[in-house]
Amino acid sequence: MSQLDRYAVIGQPIAHSKSPFIHAAFARAAGDKLSYEALEVMPAALAETLKQLHAEPYLGINVTLPHKTAVAGLCESISERAERAGAVNTLTRTDSGWAGDNTDGAGFLADLDRLGIALEGKTVLLLGAGGAARGLIAPLLSRQPKELAISNRNPWKPEELAERFKPLGNIVPRTHLALKGDSYDLIINATSAGHAGAIPRLPGQLLAAGGAAYDLSYGSAHAPFAAWAKLQGAAVIADGLGMLVAQAAEAFALWRGSKPDVDPVLVSLREPELAGCGETHRQPPKPVHPNRIGQD
Ligand code: ATR
Repeated sequence: MSQLDRYAVIGQPIAHSKSPFIHAAFARAAGDKLSYEALEVMPAALAETLKQLHAEPYLGINVTLPHKTAVAGLCESISERAERAGAVNTLTRTDSGWAGDNTDGAGFLADLDRLGIALEGKTVLLLGAGGAARGLIAPLLSRQPKELAISNRNPWKPEELAERFKPLGNIVPRTHLALKGDSYDLIINATSAGHAGAIPRLPGQLLAAGGAAYDLSYGSAHAPFAAWAKLQGAAVIADGLGMLVAQAAEAFALWRGSKPDVDPVLVSLREPELAGCGETHRQPPKPVHPNRIGQD
């Protein structure tokens, strides 16, 4: 009797992950049969669980909060892009262990392409200097913007990130308040402020005419940034749902060899009764699921 190829997403909490929905939709569209489960894994059980999943055998694992950094140390090998991002979100089975990769950056760039947002020669502002922001820096610089400013409430984290990534392009550390008088073609919100219904305190008129505003959050956590972007006259305002589906498509392609079409799945995810999309994509104050961009 033939067994279905097995995949899973691991995290804690995990119950409301959208990954099973997304990967099932990809498989259906491809006429591919596989199983994809959401598995709750506590941090203390991570190493043992990875061994078990390898033995069963699972062929691929998506990794979400809080394991994305810790799992890197348990991989047999790590891709260069995962190393740069400082996080692993996709594991592929090898004969003797797991190969760690990170598809968030590729998913992010694919989503900018889908939206028609170009980066070459443009000025880009990245708000936030935590794990989510860090994962976007190398992908952004690979598209050769004129300048990538990285801004935070305090200067230390942007300074550290600018130092680390400066061999890859023109990256400038800032604080939110010091942005006064600047103008950007694209502003990306990679802060977690949206879960508290907030946005960073920013000076006005930061967006250039025709500029775009991109948020890593979605659902209700996207609302504050979307409202701000509208007031700024943004020509494009995007939430993080496109990146969520696109990073999953990149993982599916790594595992199954063909890249699924993102659009139909994105449409279904935006129908709340189908996929629970009224939920935010970042952790709400009382988290019930791992709502973080590209990590689910
Ligand atoms: P993630 O993995 O989502 O990036 P993180 O590493 O905790 O989470 O980083 C959260 C980011 O959001 C940080 O840049 C944080 O700014 P500080 O370093 O100054 O704390 C930012 N952030 C969170 N809440 C914020 C708020 N209310 N206003 C502005 N920035 C906020």
